This record gives sequence, structure tokens and C-alpha cells, in this order.
Amino acid sequence: MLKLAPSLLAADFSTLGQVVKETADAGADMLHIDIMDGHFVPNLTFGPDLVKAIRLHSNLKFDVHLMIENPDLYLKAFVDAGADIITVHVETCTHLHRTIQQIKALGAKAGVVLNPATPVNLLEPILKDIDMVLIMTVNPGFGGQSFIPQSIDKIKRLKKMITNNGPCTIDIQVDGGITLDNVQDVINAGANVIVAGSAIYNNQALSDNIKRFKEAMYA
Ligand code: DX5
Ligand code: ZN
Repeated sequence: MLKLAPSLLAADFSTLGQVVKETADAGADMLHIDIMDGHFVPNLTFGPDLVKAIRLHSNLKFDVHLMIENPDLYLKAFVDAGADIITVHVETCTHLHRTIQQIKALGAKAGVVLNPATPVNLLEPILKDIDMVLIMTVNPGFGGQSFIPQSIDKIKRLKKMITNNGPCTIDIQVDGGITLDNVQDVINAGANVIVAGSAIYNNQALSDNIKRFKEAMYA
């Protein structure tokens, strides 16, 4: 099933409650929330308190992308704040299997993220344990960057690996530089959860942008 997950990073932070409500009303399937710590990535964003505050404004699934060192320390805080899915970077988890089990024990869905330079075969041993893989299609840290074209082959390799792994449903999410012009390419390669930040929030036409994205996804 195809899903659109607008990334709050590009939204107007002065009216977040309203933005979240409008995003849901316009037909988004999930809300992608980027958590950055200024260490793993050179940028700072939100903490659990912000997630808790916007939780009051919508029933959208909250997809929390942790770009932080020592993610284990914060899993409970984000689940308590209202995260439905937590994705952790392979590059930040020394004990990835344990981290995934912790996320699931807290009652959330578990996703794993790969940076552009991290190969998909690292996931082979834990494929049966995860609900989603996020392929970064830019280097994490900032919105508004250009899509890395080699990502298409990487998505295809992951899709093949998941299919060969047997009958289980694992979502393939893509994040970074996704636009109306390349969304069909990533879907054809195997992605089904589409994150888009600037392409959704960078002008005042939120509802139209979501509508156009959904049309392009199902074209
Ligand atoms: C980047 C973040 C993305 C970002 C995408 O590190 O993970 O979610 O918001 O923004 P765009 O769609 O503008 O590339
Ligand atoms: Zn993200």
C-alpha cells in the first residue's frame, strides 16, 4: 500500500499545531518527524515534548526518524510522547537487534534507516524483525537537498532482498529530495512510503501539494 508521509522539517514552525491538522485533513497517511541531535547530523530539531504537543492536534500515524546518537536512551520518551513508528539509523546502533526489540517491546513499530553510503545487505540478519526500512536518498541533516540518483538501484536491491526473504510485509520508505518528478521512479523501484518535506510545505499550497503528490503516486 502506498503512503505519503509529509516531513514536518519544512513546515512553518510558528503554527505547528495548525499545520499538523491541515496535513491530516489534506489526506496525508503519516507524519514524518525528524529528530536531530547536532552530533550524528549537523543540525538540531525537535525533542519528545514537541512530539507530545503536536500529538494533541491529530490522529495521524507519527513516524519518528531518529538522527541521534545513543537512540536507546530516548526510545521510551518518544513512544510515550506519541510515536507510532520509530526508525533508527544502522550507523548509530552498535546493538541493532536489541534496539529493535526495545522499540517493539514499547509497543511501537520498528524501522531501520540506511545512509546513502551504507549497503542494504547489512539488514539481512534482522529483516524478519523489522516493519520498515528507510533508504535515505540524501545525506541526512537538512531538507531541500537533491535526490541521489544511485538510490534507485539501492531500492531495487532492497526490494529483491525482502522478496527473497519470504512472505513478510516490510515497508520501504524513501526520504530526501523526493518531488513530483521523481516519485514515480522510486515507487517503480519498490518504495511504498514516500517522505517529502520541501515539496509539500515550501509554499502556501499544502493541500494542493498533497493532492498532486497522491495523484503522481497513483499515476
Ligand atoms: C533529512 C530529513 C528529511 C527531510 C526531507 O535529513 O530526514 O526527512 O525533511 O526533506 P526534503 O523532502 O526537502 O528533501
Ligand atoms: Zn527524515
